[in-house]
Amino acid sequence: MQITFETKPYPTLETEALVTYVFEAYDPIQARVADIDRAAAGLLKKLAASGELTGKTLEFTLLHAPAGLKAERLLLIGAGKRDQFNVATLRKIAGAAARSLKAKSVKNFAFLANEGLSPEDAAQAIAEGLITGDFETDKYKTDKKSDKRIDSVSLVGFSDSEKPAAEKGLNRGQIIAESQNFTRDLVNEPSNKLTPRILAEKAEAMAREAGLAVDILDEKRIADLKMGALLSVAQGSVEPPRVIVVTYTPAKVKADAPVIGLVGKAVTFDTGGISIKPADGMEKMKYDMAGGATMLGVMRAIAALKPNVKVIGVVPATENMPGGKAQKPGDIQTAMSGKTIEVLNTDAEGRLILADAITYAKQLGATHLVDAATLTGAIVVALANVNVGVFGSADQSWTDKLLASSRATGEKMWQLPMDDEYREFIKGSFADMQNIGSGKGGGSITGAWFIREFAGDTPWIHLDIAGTAWNDDVKPWLAKGPTGVALRTLVHLVSSL
Ligand code: BES
Ligand code: ZN
Ligand code: ZN
Repeated sequence: MQITFETKPYPTLETEALVTYVFEAYDPIQARVADIDRAAAGLLKKLAASGELTGKTLEFTLLHAPAGLKAERLLLIGAGKRDQFNVATLRKIAGAAARSLKAKSVKNFAFLANEGLSPEDAAQAIAEGLITGDFETDKYKTDKKSDKRIDSVSLVGFSDSEKPAAEKGLNRGQIIAESQNFTRDLVNEPSNKLTPRILAEKAEAMAREAGLAVDILDEKRIADLKMGALLSVAQGSVEPPRVIVVTYTPAKVKADAPVIGLVGKAVTFDTGGISIKPADGMEKMKYDMAGGATMLGVMRAIAALKPNVKVIGVVPATENMPGGKAQKPGDIQTAMSGKTIEVLNTDAEGRLILADAITYAKQLGATHLVDAATLTGAIVVALANVNVGVFGSADQSWTDKLLASSRATGEKMWQLPMDDEYREFIKGSFADMQNIGSGKGGGSITGAWFIREFAGDTPWIHLDIAGTAWNDDVKPWLAKGPTGVALRTLVHLVSSL
C-alpha cells in the first residue's frame, strides 16, 4: 500500500472515497466536518439532526456522490468523545476504513485527518491502522481476498508547516505496521509450514535484509551450551530445535548504556507433550510461537528506526510433541544455569525453553530483559483477550517504563502481583524447582515466577500474551487471527531509552 501526502484542497480531490472522522457531541458537525457540510449544502447537519450521524465510536456513514466534493464517496467514521480520542481510536478508524472500503472493491482513497492529535501522532496512527487493517490471513486460500487490497491512500489535512512532523509519523507508522504484519504472517503459518528450522531461516532472511547480525544455534550448539531445559522439550520431536539470536548494535553506544534482551517463546506447535492437550481447539497451538515472532518483528522495526540502544533478540524455537523420546512427567532436567527442574507437566514447556534463553541472553550481555510468551491459559481467565498480562522483577522502575509505553501506544496491558508467597508454589520436592505450581490457582503468576528465577537480579519483565496474540473473530479494523500484540509497546520502549 502506497501512502502519500496530498496538498490539494480535499473538495477538489478526484478519489474513489474521501474518509474522515466525526466526534460524538451535541453537534457532531464540527471542525473539518463542518467545512464538508458547508460544501455539501448542509446534508451532514440533516443526518445529524435525524440521529443517523452521531459520531459514536466506529459508526459508519457512507454517502455516494456527495454534493460539493469531487470524491465518489464520503465515508464518515465515528470517533467517539473528543476528550477520550487517542492514537488507538484513530488507528482503529483507519483500519476499519481500509477494511470496509476494500470490501467494496475500492482501491484508492483519501484520508482526511481531523483535529485532536499532533500531526506526528495522527499520521503514525493512520499509517499503522491502514497497513495492519489491510492485512489478510488468506495466504493459503486459492481464491484470495487479497486480490481486494488497497493500492494507495493519500493523507489530506496536514498543512505545509505540519508536514515535516507528519512525514516523520508516517514513516514510523509504516515501519511499525509492516513489522507487525511480518510478525502476524509468521504467527499465521501452520506448524507444517513453520518448523523451528523454517522459522530460523525466515528470521535469518529478515535479519540480512534489515542489516541485523544473526546467529542460529543448531541442536549441536544448543547441547554444547547445556541448554537442558530447552532440549527436554525438543527431545519428543523429530524436528530439531533452534535458538535464533538477532542483534542490533547502534552506531554509537555509551559505555554504561543498558543492553536490552528480548526473549520470545517460539513453540511452533504445542501438543502438550505426554501431558497431552485435548483435541478440541488444539489446532490453535500453532500460535504458540507468537512471543518469538513478536520479538523478531520488534527487531525488524528497530533495525529501521535505529534507536540508541543495543538490543539482542533471543528466540528459542521447538515443537512440543509426545513420542517415544519425549520427556515424561516427573523427569528431572538440568537447565543451562545449573538449576534442576522437576517436569511435573510437560505442557508447561514455555517456561522451560525461556529459562535457557534468558540464561543465554544474560550471557550475551543483556542487562535488562523482556520476555513475551503465550505462556498460560490462566491469563485468559484473568484478563480475557483484552489485556496483556505483565509481570516484573523487584525493579519496578523497569516495569513502569514498559507500562508507560503501553499507555502511549494504546496497547492494553495490566500488571499482576509477584508476591514471594507465589514463589513457594514452584519449590521442587526432588529438584530445585518444579515447572508447575503446587498451590491452587495463580497459574500465570507461578509461570512468571519460574522464569524470574532464571532472570535472577537482572531487571526483567514477562508479558503473557496467550489471551491477546490471537483474534478469534474478525474485527472491523483487523482480520481474524494473529494480532501482533506487544510489538508497538516494545518498539516504543526501546526507542524511549
Ligand atoms: N501454550 C500453552 C498456553 C496457552 C493456552 C496459549 C491457551 C494459548 C492459549 C502453554 O504451554 C500451556 O500449555 N500452559 C499450561 C500450563 C499448565 C500445565 C501449568 C496451561 O495454561 O494450561
Ligand atoms: Zn504447553
Ligand atoms: Zn505452550
